[in-house]
Amino acid sequence: MDGGMKDNDLSGIVSADRAHVWHHLTQHKPLETTDPKIIVEGKGMRVWDQTGREHLDAVSGAVWTVNVGYGRERIANAVRDQLLQLNYFAGSMGSIPGARFAERLIDKMPGLSRVYYANSGSEANEKAFKMVRQIAHKRFGGKKHKILYRDRDYHGTTLGALSAGGQQERNAQYGPFAPGFIEVPHCLEYRAADQGWGDLSGEAYGQRAADAIEEVILREGPETVGALCLEPVTAGGGVIPPPPGYWERVQEICRKYEVLLHIDEVVCGVGRTGTWFGYQHYGVKPDMVTMAKGVASGYAAIACLVTTEEVFDMFKSDADDPLDYFRDISTFGGCTAGPAAALENMAIIEEEDLLGNCQAMGARLMENLHGLMEKHRVIGDVRGAGLFCGAELVADRASKEPVSEALVRAVTGDCMAQGVIIGATNRSVPGYNNTLCFAPALIATPDDIDQITDAVDGALSRVFG
Ligand SMILES: Cc1ncc(COP(=O)(O)O)c(C=O)c1O
Repeated sequence: MDGGMKDNDLSGIVSADRAHVWHHLTQHKPLETTDPKIIVEGKGMRVWDQTGREHLDAVSGAVWTVNVGYGRERIANAVRDQLLQLNYFAGSMGSIPGARFAERLIDKMPGLSRVYYANSGSEANEKAFKMVRQIAHKRFGGKKHKILYRDRDYHGTTLGALSAGGQQERNAQYGPFAPGFIEVPHCLEYRAADQGWGDLSGEAYGQRAADAIEEVILREGPETVGALCLEPVTAGGGVIPPPPGYWERVQEICRKYEVLLHIDEVVCGVGRTGTWFGYQHYGVKPDMVTMAKGVASGYAAIACLVTTEEVFDMFKSDADDPLDYFRDISTFGGCTAGPAAALENMAIIEEEDLLGNCQAMGARLMENLHGLMEKHRVIGDVRGAGLFCGAELVADRASKEPVSEALVRAVTGDCMAQGVIIGATNRSVPGYNNTLCFAPALIATPDDIDQITDAVDGALSRVFG
């Protein structure tokens, strides 16, 4: 292992884990007969497991989080110093790192001005939904309360966020859900033929997919629709960048019907796609933006909901009404470790030009994946933005029939055996957990990218012949 392991009783750790830890998103039955994997240490792009085995992490902590890589001493030091100065005070008061990070963040988000701190992506989205509901009550007699979300998008694990969830396998068996959340169609051009709009592509498809949102608004009644919540690039639902012209038309529709545009940057935010935020590729002006994973690269738990001054102002009032402000708090939204880590994280991205590296390495990853697509017929489509890419596996290119999940697992398992951790869409859209996912840290080198795609090349050859 790379660094100094402090706890050498790893067999004890494995049995304690097996006896007492309930892992996230995991069927535990197979772990009765095999060892759970314990990730023990991380440095740069690499992690080590309990057997001492090294893995190149092509998914930044499995869920696209560790944007600046593992083992960043300056973040750890900044958090340590901050904890000793002041670890916590409730978010109803200010803090030094909270104010500093808000100022730095707003600098990257022209048109937005207010930062509301939270602990997770789900929670930041819940807060945005609460704001929409309260605005509906304050200004529209409660009527303009509906929140639109998109098929295949995901906004979190809590019941409110699942109510806005477009991935049926995440939602199944957890209903009933909150009322007033309405689905709009996805914008995956590769699967356009299934949407019944004829044979459209490029800008024509982008327009049509956005027009479908307008149709839902008109069907529901524009006076009932308060907000539209979208991922800039759908992440877990299949790595879906928007088709051309989509976002421009979405913006127009939101303005036309006074629908607040809430962009969920939990995955794409803070550099993942090669710009600070995913929406900045498309020139849109959101009213609300939520972010979490890359904000502090997992060095501390922090999420933010960022709004315009206009949204903020709707919650200010001189009236003597005790309910007339945003009555929301999360205890740990007052932890100072989050913004302290986020400040260093942002400084690292700037000083090391990780946005530039993300663009360059993203282009290399995409080029390599296109090369693999020429060689392996099982790859039906590759798509992505920056260092966030997907390769959709199909049994037959003409029919686009997805390969089975067992085969997808065989590919990810083969890569793991080669020491490269890649991802795949996981319990998302029924029948469509068939997209391999790549989201290496923004520090990736050309050799890292080539090692990732070489592993996939080998795995596809072995699994599909
Ligand atoms: C787009 C998106 N939004 C929200 C969330 C939820 O974030 P969290 O797991 O921090 O609650 C996720 C998690 O993967 C996500 O991908």
